[in-house]
Amino acid sequence: MVLFFIYSSFVYIYSGSEKQPVSPSATVIAGWQIWQQKNCHTCHQLYGLGGYMGPDLTNIASDANKGTDAYLKTFMKYGTANMPNLHLTETEMDALVSFLRWVDKSGKSQVAKESVHWTGTYIF
Ligand code: HEC
Repeated sequence: MVLFFIYSSFVYIYSGSEKQPVSPSATVIAGWQIWQQKNCHTCHQLYGLGGYMGPDLTNIASDANKGTDAYLKTFMKYGTANMPNLHLTETEMDALVSFLRWVDKSGKSQVAKESVHWTGTYIF
């Protein structure tokens, strides 16, 4: 019995190192709705699920180079040759950035960096 409690507290303490779910704010929920309305998921994956035309965005918010508001919003505002300009308002982009930051805290991408190529994402 004593061993059970020692073992349980060990498991409890060390399981905390995994990313834990964080409750979403109203802005995060708004961002999630825009994510669905604008069909971001048809090209981008979250947690490894979604379309494969664009990159997985699960952990982009904590990426050292790409995780800034300016970087994320530049893609959302103008699009690129491969990503359409979706004509988002400033408020919609702020909500999407909050949503992506929340997603980043809640889980990890399943897509390995080696699977990402400029022509798409490949899972071998
Ligand atoms: C038609 C497919 C498509 C849709 C819809 C789409 N994207 Fe993209 N997105 C792409 C592609 C392709 C890229 C890579 C662009 C490039 O490198 O030229 C990209 C890149 C990005 C990037 C930068 C990723 C990186 O690693 O640098 C962000 C952020 C992004 N998209 C956010 C969004 C959001 C938010 C939405 C919805 C509002 C969205 N995208 C909708 C195709 C799409």
